[in-house]
Amino acid sequence: MEKNQAKIKELIDKRAEARLGGGEKRINAQHNKGKMTARERIELLMDEGSFEEFDMFVTHRTKSFGLDKQKYLSDGVVTGRGTVDGRIVFVFAQDFTVFGGSLSETYAQKICKVMDQAMKVGAPVIGLNDSGGARIQEGVRSLAGYAEIFQRNIMASGVIPQISGIFGPCAGGAVYSPALTDFIIMSEENSYMFVTGPKVVQTVTGEVISTDDLGGANMHATKSGVAHFMSQDDEEGILLTRKILSYLPSNNLEDPPILESHDPIERLGDTLNEIIPEDVNKPYSMHDVIHEVVDNNEFLEVHRNYAQNIIVGFARFNGRPVGMVANNPSHLAGVLDIEASRKAARFVRFCDCFNIPLVTMVDVPGFLPGSNQEYGGIIVHGAKLLFAYGEATVPKITITLRKSYGGAHDVMSCKQLRGDINYAWPTAEIAVMGAKGAVEVLEGRNISKLESDEEKVKYVQEKEEEYTKKFANPYEAAKFGYIDDIIEPRNTRFRVIRALEALANKKDHNPPKKHSNIPL
Ligand code: HXC
Repeated sequence: MEKNQAKIKELIDKRAEARLGGGEKRINAQHNKGKMTARERIELLMDEGSFEEFDMFVTHRTKSFGLDKQKYLSDGVVTGRGTVDGRIVFVFAQDFTVFGGSLSETYAQKICKVMDQAMKVGAPVIGLNDSGGARIQEGVRSLAGYAEIFQRNIMASGVIPQISGIFGPCAGGAVYSPALTDFIIMSEENSYMFVTGPKVVQTVTGEVISTDDLGGANMHATKSGVAHFMSQDDEEGILLTRKILSYLPSNNLEDPPILESHDPIERLGDTLNEIIPEDVNKPYSMHDVIHEVVDNNEFLEVHRNYAQNIIVGFARFNGRPVGMVANNPSHLAGVLDIEASRKAARFVRFCDCFNIPLVTMVDVPGFLPGSNQEYGGIIVHGAKLLFAYGEATVPKITITLRKSYGGAHDVMSCKQLRGDINYAWPTAEIAVMGAKGAVEVLEGRNISKLESDEEKVKYVQEKEEEYTKKFANPYEAAKFGYIDDIIEPRNTRFRVIRALEALANKKDHNPPKKHSNIPL
């Protein structure tokens, strides 16, 4: 009996030792920076008491640089499985208190183990990153460890959701594992991501730049678009992770979870009947439209501060998760440019991977013209969104609120890109371009023949009216069946709900192929 007790005590002691990571001093240092420890982050992420840790007794195998005398149980990364809202989720959390969270060969093996198990059972993987990168003392073994992880990220892409929280340093090639995952959340205070830090940047290029400006959360959430979400701190970022998961299935063979909704299906959005301004060039709030139609006015916006001319994010209709994509007339008139096209294309493809129906709200004046856009390759980037919608086989519901002009009309989930149900509000204008532009092109020669300015103004006005009457409405498109129905704006919510219910068992397929060749 005594022997058993002694063995159990040994286990308890070893567990306690592992839980201390790099020791109390380093844990305090972590707390003093306003950061949580790896295990605290996991506790917050998982349902209470559900977390089971693997490989707690793993240590590194390096002898050089005096490391044979410095070993910590768990070796700087906490891995395991638990549940979030009752569903299985796998996690790894890098422990900055052990060698700065740096990645060794054994540490990489621990991460690969949870990724492999997640793939076997079809469950999401959450990575909580806080690391000095490759463990310098391990040299190429550490680089190989990263590559093992990258390969698994790639194989898991589109099979299980992968979410990365960045709650500390993330530099060098290490940034590429998060970049291969579906969503990146960065905490505002303590995180950064870059391929090379400010010191090397200065040495190589002479540029002097701060860590925050080079790779801080704010920069990545607004300028580069690398971060999909920015949180104030670790806690907000981890709770956000739980929220994102609530919209997602556990894998690509499941449908997203339907929650019970207490928001009435028939709730009318009376304000929507008045929301479109008389003047077609005036903006209005597309966010208000989205909030009005979705369950409980709840919308989880992705990339909120990046490429704001397009809005993407998750919402529910009668409990069913959807991906919303909407042009934003309040920002650059909702025009499609390089960044907006890339942002929306990636989101559409994510939703398609994971069986999340798409609801698209259209008010788009076209693609942004000009040399900047052409030099940057708007043709290829705009094609990404076109491609993404065209290849998506999930239910696709489109509502045209106002402008739907030119190539952008085609791109924004039109009927011929296998749009399942295409509605328009009576205020919709579906045409090759707006009246002003059209009259300039079509009537330029006739206008120039007129003598007085007065005559010109009158002629242009008449022609614009003629054009508007013919094309600036949804009826021309509806006449050809390109629009299935013209709906009263306030009925939008229940028309979308009915459409989603009708499409719940939709099955559509693309031809067999190795993979497509989306314009990158
Ligand atoms: C081994 C490391 C380490 C690393 C930090 N530590 N980074 N040990 N390998 N990469 C250790 C430190 O020696 C220190 O140990 C402890 O972690 C905390 O580090 P500090 O420097 O005291 O912390 P702080 O001041 O907060 O600075 C954090 C840091 C800095 C900015 C991350 O440590 C740093 O610059 N580290 C190196 C980053 C780097 O260049 N990594 C390689 C990137 S290239 P003690 O014992 O004193 O507590 C890469 C390639 C990946 O990752 C390739 C994939 C393809």
